[in-house]
This record gives sequence, structure tokens and C-alpha cells, in this order.
Amino acid sequence: MSRQLFVTTALPYANGNFHIGHIMEYIQADIWVRFQRMQGHAVNFVGADDTHGAPIMIAAEKVGKTPQQFVADIAAGRKQYLDGFHISFDNWHSTDGPENHELARQIYRDLRDRADGSLIETKTIEQFFDPEKNMFLPDRYIKGECPKCHAKDQYGDNCEVCGSVYAPTDLINPYSALSGAKPELKASEHFFFKLSDPRCVAFLEQWTQDGKLQPEVANKIKEWFTVRTNPDGSTSEGLGDWDISRDAPYFGIEIPDAPGKYFYVWLDAPVGYLASLKNLLDKRGESYDAYMANPALEQYHFIGKDIVTFHTLFWPAMLHFSGRKTPDNVFVHGFLTVNNGEKMSKSRGTGLDPLKYLSLGMNPEWLRYYLAAKLSARNEDIDFNADDFMARVNSDLIGKYVNIASRAAGFLTKRFEGKLTHQFGAQGAALVHELRGASDSIAQMYEAREYGKATREIMLLADKVNAYVDQNKPWDLAKDVANNEALHQVCSVLINSFAVLTRYLAPVLPGLARAVEQFTGSSMGEWNLVKHDVQAIQPYQHLMQRVTPEQLDALFEPPPAPVVEKVAPGGEEIAPTISIDDFAKIDLRIAKIVNCEAVEGSTKLLRLTLDVGETDDAGQPRTRNVFSGIASMYKPEQLVGLYTVLVANLAPRKMKFGISEGMVLAASHADEKEDPGIYILTPRPGAMPGMRIH
Ligand code: 2FM
Ligand code: ZN
Repeated sequence: MSRQLFVTTALPYANGNFHIGHIMEYIQADIWVRFQRMQGHAVNFVGADDTHGAPIMIAAEKVGKTPQQFVADIAAGRKQYLDGFHISFDNWHSTDGPENHELARQIYRDLRDRADGSLIETKTIEQFFDPEKNMFLPDRYIKGECPKCHAKDQYGDNCEVCGSVYAPTDLINPYSALSGAKPELKASEHFFFKLSDPRCVAFLEQWTQDGKLQPEVANKIKEWFTVRTNPDGSTSEGLGDWDISRDAPYFGIEIPDAPGKYFYVWLDAPVGYLASLKNLLDKRGESYDAYMANPALEQYHFIGKDIVTFHTLFWPAMLHFSGRKTPDNVFVHGFLTVNNGEKMSKSRGTGLDPLKYLSLGMNPEWLRYYLAAKLSARNEDIDFNADDFMARVNSDLIGKYVNIASRAAGFLTKRFEGKLTHQFGAQGAALVHELRGASDSIAQMYEAREYGKATREIMLLADKVNAYVDQNKPWDLAKDVANNEALHQVCSVLINSFAVLTRYLAPVLPGLARAVEQFTGSSMGEWNLVKHDVQAIQPYQHLMQRVTPEQLDALFEPPPAPVVEKVAPGGEEIAPTISIDDFAKIDLRIAKIVNCEAVEGSTKLLRLTLDVGETDDAGQPRTRNVFSGIASMYKPEQLVGLYTVLVANLAPRKMKFGISEGMVLAASHADEKEDPGIYILTPRPGAMPGMRIH
């Protein structure tokens, strides 16, 4: 019976090009989809760009584009990857499309307006706000000193140095990574999806533990029902409510009846699956509602192991409690590492550049085959290894499989006008029979996403065909025309065996399968045609080249260092020209450092007591208190007695540790990594406190 399948891959953030991790996921899903289509099932396979959220909004602003323009530019680059690696999406859409706005808002209303009690509630929470940017700051845009190990410039949620987890409000001297401003705590109303509601808990316990999920995934999820980690690193019991709103300015979908409030990107992202499907069906003039209402419809999502919570808790709960169909399964894969190197993280897709791969003329189906050979149904990382890649492609794919065709085709064309016989002889018939008999078990492996097992099984069958070649030696038979019939038989067995193997590999190697269709004149697109005999062949043309070590060297050769046209002095350009009058506004004076102390609670600042030759109203000498961020360079005792330069008419600044009455001059490189030093200025001997610098 024909199945109706709706299949997606995770929607990539529209803030960068695809990296090899994306391509691996798409290939994994595409193999499954192509297999299902070969079985005669109806599949809608869709993707979309995940466009919303603060990072994309900020990235767009940085390059002077609207977020819409920014994501459109990214979207324009998608096709070359998808076509290049033979990924057969039926549709590619955007979470900023009208379908998604409408569906996300409707799902929200359905959750809010439930007859048995709303699953949305509002709570006022305090968050850091950037007074300069006028926006609430996502945790990753708040930096400061780690409260545990005092490492500087750590992110708002965890310390990369000591690994501790905390809330942004625990940071010492927090600052906005966007503007540098000191963030202020500000209250705001947020909307929450009540995942802790007993209705949700009961539903999710059932949905996640009913046996459909991969066992390792289901086990991990089990822990989340009993214990959860809070932002400050402490733990609580059970599922927490999910904050689904963000305040303007935010690139996203406005929450119904809540002006200035937007859905958090992860609320509307998975809705994008439905939106892309709806967009596809609308284009075809089919009814989305009718399609989704079909009780036999199966819905599957291929995702990476880093986004399991969203897909196995939030997403099914959103769907179920808004009265919609929940996914039939979520297929989780691990990460891809390259040459045992770094993991292919979302932000750093280092190692194997998919476009470079294509531009080197490397066959996309080598990669598809190689990944298939390594993939299983388990959520485990796999490694792309260049030597292993070459061995699998050249020894297995070409040596064992493609060569079967090339060995037989020449004789058939030259001696038998390309026509095949159906007389296979006992041994040949048994071989073809055995190959065809593997159809169901290989189909089950594909169905279960055990592609590694499937390719191994297919290669074992290819070994048997090659053993048959070695026993029957067509090149020897060809030496004597008396053996013509035997030669015809052997070569016909080989081409039929090759056709069987090609159908088995077609989900992985769709381009090659198409070429074999031309070559054999029989369709490779239907699994059950495996029982059909090939009648005749066209003259053989190379089906696939070998991969060369030079190609692999070129693939992993680091890109040439960018040509730096002009090095800015000190790491930054000279500032725009000012007039002498502008300069005269700055009152620079020689100051003597009469005292210097460390500042408790700060590893950056030193407190300087400066003599600038001033007196107070009573005519008594007066000193100034100035904080300077030079503690990383100097010990207090090194500075006492030194003369330096003070900006004497700078407006006093209130700091956490007191008032700073001016600023001492120091030099530094714009890029801390180039030179972390901060060098305080000192005048030549003879300059006295209070002298002005002209
Ligand atoms: O982690 C990510 O790359 C997200 N953009 C995935 C979203 S999947 C779905 F929910 F849209
Ligand atoms: Zn730390």
C-alpha cells in the first residue's frame, strides 16, 4: 500500500552558507526519501531557511542590510549546494513567509484559547537591557567577568575558562557585547508555554517513551522529566515552562494581541516545516488542510543531536495541544568530524567546504556513498577521513561495483550488438536469483536508516558477482569464438547483476542510476523492477571516475591567506581630521601619580591619585581620583611617583567603585590579540604637574 510521507530536515539559520554538517543531514534524509519514492510511496520533502531571531537581526544591521534583504541573500545561495549534492527537496521556503506568520499565530491562539484551560501564561521577568541599543540583551550578547574564576570577557550563561554555568546577572562588571554599555536590569512581561502543566507532562512522557524514538534519545529525554538545569547551574525537578516571547526590536513574528512582543525564534522555526509544506501544496493547487487531515499521513523530521529538546518536547507539545498532528518520529543524527578534527559546529563549519568539493570537480555521489557507508540509525558522531574516503570510493564503489559493467559491456557491444540473452546458465541464474532475493532485506535496512549495513550488504553481493567473473573469465572466453554462447551468458549475467545492484544503490547514487537507465534501457527508479531482465545495452561510457589523491589534497589545502592591502597603524585607521580648535577643547595636563592602589572587586582597574598642581577653594593642594584600566600591565608600586598625561577637563564619571575625575593617556593596539599591552604615557624630565600640553 502506498504511504503518504511528509519529511523535513532541520531548518538552517539564514546567517551563513551551508557547511558539510548540513549537507550530511540533507544527504541522510534524501537517501531515505528517494528510497521511499522508489517503493512507490508519495513523499513531500521540504526545507526552509530559519530566518528570525536576534543574531540574524544584529548580523544584518552590521552589514547595513534589512533582515529581510540579509536572509534573501543567504537564500539565493542555497540552490547550488542542493542541486550540487543531488538533494531532492520538493520545496525550499522561509520562516518569514506569510504562511509561517499565519500558522505560528494560529497555533499560539489555539494553545492560548484551549477550552480546558490556557497553556499560555504571562510572567514579569527581569532581564538585562542595553540602554544604548535600547533593547533587551540575549544572554550571548552579555559579557563580563566570570563570578567563579574571574576570567574576563565571558559570556552571559557560561564561562569558557572554568566551565561554570551561571545567570547573566551573576557576571561581574557585565557589559553589552553590542555597545559596550553597562546593561541595566529591566522588567518586562513575557509569555510562557506551560510545559510544566500536568497535561503537557503526561502527554510528553507518553509521546517520548512509547518506543518510537531511538533508544539513546528516549533515555536522555527521560532525565529531563526528573531533573533540569537552571540558568544559574542549580537544578530543579521536572519540565520548566518555556519562555516563548521576546521584546521589540526583534526580527520575528508579532504575538497576537501583544503589540511589541514577538515569538522567540524557536517557537516559529519548526512551524516553518508546516509553512513550507503549505507553500508547496498551495503552489500545486492542493489543499493543505485536507493533506494534514489524512489520518494515514506520516510526518518525520531529520535533525542533529543538539536540537533534540525542541523537537521532542516543545514541538510535539505545541502541535498536540493546538489540536494538530504530531510527528510520527524524529530521527536524530550525530555530528560529522573531519579527519578526526573539530566537530562541525553550527557556527564553525571548518574542514571540508562543500562548495570547494564541487568546484574541484569531485563527484557528489562519492560523498553520498561515503556518508551512506558510515551512517546508521544511531545518534552517533561519524568522521570523514580522507584515506578511508578514497578507499571506499575507489576500491568498493568503482573497483567492486562500477567495474562489473565495464568488464561486460565491451564484449556485448562488439560481439552481440548489445543484445543480452536470457539464458544465464545454472551458476549465473543462481547468482542473479540470489542478488534479487536480497531485495527485501536491503529495503528493510534503508527503511530503518541503516545505510551502512545496506551498502555493506550490497558490496558483499558485488563480491559474489566478482567471484563469478573470476571463475568464468570472460576475457579468456573471448579468445575463442567457440565460446561465444558462454561469453554471451556470462556478460548477460553480469549486466543483469549490475542492474540489480544499481537499483539497490539508486537512493544513494541517483545520478549514476540515471546514467545506468540510459545504458541498460531499463528504469532504475522502481525498487520492484529488480526482477526485470535487461534486454539490451548502449555502448558503455564511463559511469564514474576514481577519486585522486591530488583532489583530496586540494580539498584540504588551507585557503590562501587573504592579501592584506593596507595595514592600519596600531590596528586602527587614523581618525577623521579635526581642527586645531577641536583639539584645543581637550585640556591635557602633566600629572604626578602620588598614589596608586588596586581596586577591590576589579582585576582591570587601578585607582590613581594625581597631582595636577591644583588647589582647592581654601588654597590647599588638591589631588584627583582617577580609575584607569591598566591593572593588567602595572603593579601599583611601579607607578607611584611617575609623571603622566591627564585629560583634565573630561566630565567626571561615576563608576561602580567611585567617581573618576579624568583619564590618563595610554597607548594600546586595537587588536588585543596582536598586543595585549596598555602603555601609560610619561613626559620627558622637566615637565611639571599642571603644565598644559599643546
Ligand atoms: O539549530 C538550528 O540550526 C535551527 N535553525 C534549527 C531549526 S529546526 C526547525 F525547528 F526549524
Ligand atoms: Zn570562570
